[in-house]
Amino acid sequence: MSKQRPQRIVVAITGASGAAYAQRMVQLLLDAGVEVHLVISPLGQRIIHDELGMERVDLEALIGGARCGREASNIILHAHRNVGASIASGSFLHDGMIIVPCSSSTLSAVALGSAQNLCHRAAHVTLKQRRPLILVHRETPLSLVDIRNMEKAAEAGAIVCPANPGFYMMPRSIEDLLDFICARVLDLLGIGHDLPLRWGEAQAEAGGGGGGGSMQEGTTADD
Ligand SMILES: Cc1cc2nc3c(=O)[nH]c(=O)nc-3n(C[C@H](O)[C@H](O)[C@H](O)COP(=O)(O)O)c2cc1C
Repeated sequence: MSKQRPQRIVVAITGASGAAYAQRMVQLLLDAGVEVHLVISPLGQRIIHDELGMERVDLEALIGGARCGREASNIILHAHRNVGASIASGSFLHDGMIIVPCSSSTLSAVALGSAQNLCHRAAHVTLKQRRPLILVHRETPLSLVDIRNMEKAAEAGAIVCPANPGFYMMPRSIEDLLDFICARVLDLLGIGHDLPLRWGEAQAEAGGGGGGGSMQEGTTADD
């Protein structure tokens, strides 16, 4: 009989703007009872420093502290240069990988199958094992190189899920924008969440018809 294992997700944080997306993603995964395997590129660390104000990567601070009831022990931090870590092997079972935020540089490595560091190697392995790989890419505007790399990565099986929040849920805070993207990623991985971010549900609860106040009959809202 096979041994039960916890649901596991690999999270890579790379050097694109938007470290707060990664922070919120990790928090929501822990809230869902997921074991998180974390790898952070050197530029990812720099952005965590610049945008989250952390001198060094502090797992307790990243997950919002013990007062939130989250356990830092459910995060396994892997060294970026350690291409011999567990997540570098296809024999290590997990349920998918999220690169959040995903820089154009890492997108290019994923598209080309380059595996010079643990983030790239883990992504490559995730694709070869036919597990979900979600790239929360952040850059704007996109170069033709980015667009072609997105095409290649998508052809190889990755899901390109840009950090590109919608506004139809009427966000009021940065947290709302972060949650919008993180909810889409959790949905892609089939991980449950209670974020009230589904078109139709909030409107139905508020007594509307799911079409919003000023929308015409037959109008739809896409992600
Ligand atoms: C402050 C800062 C912000 C950056 N923001 C982005 C960004 O939003 N998107 C991107 O593709 N690269 C961005 N970069 C450039 C990447 O960090 C750089 O290409 C790096 O080599 C990415 O390496 P990594 O993917 O291994 O983390 C930024 C760099 C700095 C210093």
